[in-house]
Formats: sequence, C-alpha cells, structure tokens
Amino acid sequence: MSTAPIHAANPEELREVRFDAAMESQIAELLTHYPIPRAALLPVLWLCQKRYGWIAPGVMEAVAARLGLSPAYVQGVVTFYTMFHTTPPARFVLQVCTTLSCAVCGAGELLAHLRKRLGIGPGERTPDGTFQIVGVQCLGACGSAPVVQVNDDYYENLDPAKLDALLDELAAAKE
Ligand code: FES
Repeated sequence: MSTAPIHAANPEELREVRFDAAMESQIAELLTHYPIPRAALLPVLWLCQKRYGWIAPGVMEAVAARLGLSPAYVQGVVTFYTMFHTTPPARFVLQVCTTLSCAVCGAGELLAHLRKRLGIGPGERTPDGTFQIVGVQCLGACGSAPVVQVNDDYYENLDPAKLDALLDELAAAKE
C-alpha cells in the first residue's frame, strides 16, 4: 500500500474561503443524505479537509455559513476530534495509538523508535515538513496492535523494523 501525501493549503489562501462550483456541488450532494444541514457537518468537514488539507478558521466560517450554524459550534466540533487538523499538517501524519492493546504490544517502543529516527515526539513535526507524530486513542484495530494510522491508511502489527521500512517508503514518495 502506498499512502498519498497531504497537500496542505497555505494559511493565506484560506483566510477567506469561498467554495467553488465543484465543492458546492459535492456539499449539495452530501446534504441530500441528511434530514437537516447540521447532521451533515462531519462529512462536510471531511470533504474540506480532503480539499484543503486542514480546517483553517476561514474554512470553519465558510462551513458554518453554508450549513446555517455558528462558527463557534463548528469550531467546537472540529477541535473535539483529533482527526481534524487545525494547523497545516506535514505530508504524512503518523497517528500512533497509545491505548491499552497497542501500549501492551509495543506502542511505546514505536514512539521511542520514531523519536530516535526522526528526532520528534507526539505533537511535533520534522523541520522539512515530511512527518508529524500525533498520539491518539484507540483506532479500533486492537486485534492487530500496535497500529499507526498514516493519513487515511492503517498500518498494523508494526515493529521498529516494519516502521523503518514504512518511513523509507513514505520519505521516497513522489508528490
Ligand atoms: S488499542 Fe490501539 S487500536 Fe485499539
């Protein structure tokens, strides 16, 4: 499997967001699946994250206006979930599960290995913007612990050697 890198829009570009026709049409289609606009908030935010790479304040405001919600409500939802990026992410976000099954099966060892190899820990990113580490709670794949989610993909039953091979593959990935 090869994970696609995230292309994060520049903060300047997202200062004031107007959805283009393609985004408008995708949002309109999503809304047909829900009884009220508010119920479509999470899928609309996913759509925005896919398009812009992260959820900037300008994106929250545009979503709020489109769905008839307050910006504060949208911000509350965005900041509740670790899956939404509120700052421009690195090309590859390594979400390391640190909950019980993964902790018992070596998540700590993986984090220590990442720190040794990349020089960063949870909440940090490499200076070249290639990798970022986030410590997260259970990813729902406890049977194949330890698990690291990279962007949208799961990598399971990891150990330091498999992690090294994965990092090599990701670092070599083309745009
Ligand atoms: S404890 Fe790590 S996936 Fe559930």
